[in-house]
Amino acid sequence: MSPVTPANPAPPFAVVRVAHVELGVADLERSRAFYEEALGLVVTEQADGALYLRGLEERSHHSLVLRQEAAGRCLRLGFRVAAEADLERAFAFFAERELAPAWAEAPGQGRTLHVSDPFGQPLALYASQARVERRLQRYGEYRGAAIQRLDHVNLFAAELQATHDFYAGQLGFRTSEYTDTDEAEPRLWAVWMHRKGNVHDVALTNGVGPRLHHVGLWVRGELDVIRACDVLATTGWRGALERGPGRHGISNAFFLYLRDPDGHRVELFTGDYQTLDPDFEPIGWKLDDPQRQTLWGHPAPRSWFEEGSPFVGVEPREPLMPVRPVVAR
Ligand SMILES: [Fe+2]
Repeated sequence: MSPVTPANPAPPFAVVRVAHVELGVADLERSRAFYEEALGLVVTEQADGALYLRGLEERSHHSLVLRQEAAGRCLRLGFRVAAEADLERAFAFFAERELAPAWAEAPGQGRTLHVSDPFGQPLALYASQARVERRLQRYGEYRGAAIQRLDHVNLFAAELQATHDFYAGQLGFRTSEYTDTDEAEPRLWAVWMHRKGNVHDVALTNGVGPRLHHVGLWVRGELDVIRACDVLATTGWRGALERGPGRHGISNAFFLYLRDPDGHRVELFTGDYQTLDPDFEPIGWKLDDPQRQTLWGHPAPRSWFEEGSPFVGVEPREPLMPVRPVVAR
């Protein structure tokens, strides 16, 4: 019996994709140097103690917001919805569940709804952002990893099955891959869910949560990841390299994990695949399969399993299933 919950085919409101992440930082200039110069994101604007960044192909105002408060913590996850009317439907959905949705003003975003999901994760929902110039074909300006766009977020979930059930069974997120236990009645250990038709918008990992595990940023290919390693290692950011480069079994992603100046984990990510077909069947992995984490077999450092960014105002909880890290010695 699969522990994967089928996606609600008619969700109460239509999420299009994960659209931005807002992180708290201690020093905007230091963070700007990391994300703009070393990783190659584009700065849209800096205003009122926040820096708004986007990838080279992105035509919207921001996919990453760095705010000079709550250093080391995550302030909010942003999701696009399909239309303005979805915001009204989302308001009604969350209000009915007494989750206190509230309209909010946010620079560069259209009408925005703020709400926390049932697990405490602060969300921003909106249909539009201000249009800005696409830098895709300004090849002469490419820097660092030449990040193209935001791809996904990965979250530690203390109540993983329930969180999956909510996003899949209620909000219509479809599952691309999952890990379950070897028990007679397998339990879900981690899950990759999407709305946009690739492997994921949101992944959940069993652990102390809710916390942000990492932000996944899409790059054009493996060589951009290798180049990022060389740039980081020779421009004062060698300590940012946490894990990789390598290839995940799950999602087939070629990855590099970095820690930004405030400890937020960022993944440079490329090489996944399309999941649009309505009869796509989720791909399952067993927890003890060493190629699940890394196709080449090398394990992750302990920090990978234990460290993440808490959400502002949300006390992380111990996971219902004990964490079993498989670590490098
Ligand atoms: Fe990832």
